[in-house]
Amino acid sequence: MTEVPSSRIAGKVRVRADIATMQPYSPTASLEVFAAQLGIPAERLIKLDANENPYGPSPGARAALVALSAAHIYPDPEARALRALLSDYVGVGAEHILAGAGADELIALILQLFIEPGDAVINAPPTFSMYAFDAPLAFGRVVDVPRRADFSLDVEGIEAAARESGAKLLFLCSPNNPDGSLIPPQTVERLLELPLVVVLDEAYIEFSGAESLAPRVPQTPNLIVLRTFSKWAGLAGLRAGYGVFPREIIAHLWKIKQPYNVNVAADAAARASLAEQPHLRANVERLIAGRERLERELAAIPTLHPYPSRGNFVLCRVTGMDAATLRRRLAEEHGILIRHYNTPRLRDCVRISAGTPAQTDALLAALREIGRSSEVSETSEL
Ligand SMILES: Cc1ncc(COP(=O)(O)O)c(C=O)c1O
Repeated sequence: MTEVPSSRIAGKVRVRADIATMQPYSPTASLEVFAAQLGIPAERLIKLDANENPYGPSPGARAALVALSAAHIYPDPEARALRALLSDYVGVGAEHILAGAGADELIALILQLFIEPGDAVINAPPTFSMYAFDAPLAFGRVVDVPRRADFSLDVEGIEAAARESGAKLLFLCSPNNPDGSLIPPQTVERLLELPLVVVLDEAYIEFSGAESLAPRVPQTPNLIVLRTFSKWAGLAGLRAGYGVFPREIIAHLWKIKQPYNVNVAADAAARASLAEQPHLRANVERLIAGRERLERELAAIPTLHPYPSRGNFVLCRVTGMDAATLRRRLAEEHGILIRHYNTPRLRDCVRISAGTPAQTDALLAALREIGRSSEVSETSEL
């Protein structure tokens, strides 16, 4: 999709002016697309660019997908069976839970529910990019309050922005993508005093060792917590997420959600995952160990400076070499995919997802080799 499309359809009907001029979101590609681009077979690629879970679905979830018998029947619009299981997993009544096609769908739905043209939405970048991507599509105005140098929230800045803009929504991410820092619960409590709805995205909470704030939702009328099966349960490709909502908010969401938003395969795999928590928990522990190893071993490479993370990924500042070049060389020379951000704040950073021990071995060997060869080429240029 490199061609700029015409804003007039058949020379007559114009698409929305803001969409005609907007930049497309550039999500990660599939293994097959990377394989074709790089000329490396998909099975030899190591994909550490999207915080996916390399251990994949649990055996029961795989079996549920194989045994799927009702793909020709629409799913339960209320996803009742899944929500009943989630109620036990999260520790809140099922009446507070809405399932979606990934947490992504719920982000868009929340914006659709609250935002009228020009309403402000507070965002705290660097953070997960979908909040700022979806808000204008819902006619919202994004008010950025950048995080501090250590990625902690600028709480006073958010309070001032809320007062000045009259924002209706504040998006918070904890652990934060891309750096992995946690927001202390007392900070969330303080921000809940603001006259707005706090959307707390806990996509990575299972890797953090911290308590989810989801159980607080029923007593907190302006708190929404988003969670997903994409990361801890290895179901990113199936699109299964959920939100925990106060009663007054969920009542309106039921009216506007697409009736069959959770497909039968995602629903079956998500339910099977909840029945196999010890297996998935063991994989989460492996990924936490993988993240800790990455933090340690990346720090031992002189050009790399990892930030402490509580997610299944590590953000790393790169010195002595262009971070985009590092990403490109890992991909082209070693078939290892990591994430680089083309934004002023993160241009010298890469984000690396925790992988299996073998994937981490390959990554570290490749990083050392690139380090050595760039030292050689720098000396030979002198
Ligand atoms: C912070 C955060 N929230 C939500 C998502 C998307 O979750 P889902 O796959 O459930 O749509 C991601 C995916 O990377 C994420 O990093």
